[in-house]
Amino acid sequence: MAERFSTSLEPELLKQFDRFIDKNGYENRSEAVRDLIRRALIAEEWEAGAEVVGVVTLVFDHHQRQLQDQVTEAQHEFHHEVVSTTHVHLDHHNCLEVVIVRGKAGRVREMAQRLIALRGVKDGHLTTTSTGRNLA
Ligand code: NI
Repeated sequence: MAERFSTSLEPELLKQFDRFIDKNGYENRSEAVRDLIRRALIAEEWEAGAEVVGVVTLVFDHHQRQLQDQVTEAQHEFHHEVVSTTHVHLDHHNCLEVVIVRGKAGRVREMAQRLIALRGVKDGHLTTTSTGRNLA
């Protein structure tokens, strides 16, 4: 059963919040507030080094020497954390690799950073989420 609480906001901040709600397709303020609270709590779990889940997204040059080997090597080094990897050959030059990772926040970040920093990786991101209590 959801509980209600009321919040006071300055008019300008509320106006900006309503624009945010519109732009992001939320049906109402409650739905937007719930998402923002969960996101903040998940960020806190990551900060605390909890057990987390992440998705590393990489776009890289297929022709860069030994890069695919290095991407694979890093994943073997973190094999306890890697859950699944999907590789897509985007076009003649570019590959997309998506790695689902699960483990202690510090290890997951370390692994993601190792991959993202490799020479020839054109774009790399770590999406942070959690299996934790905050998603209930
Ligand atoms: Ni490829």
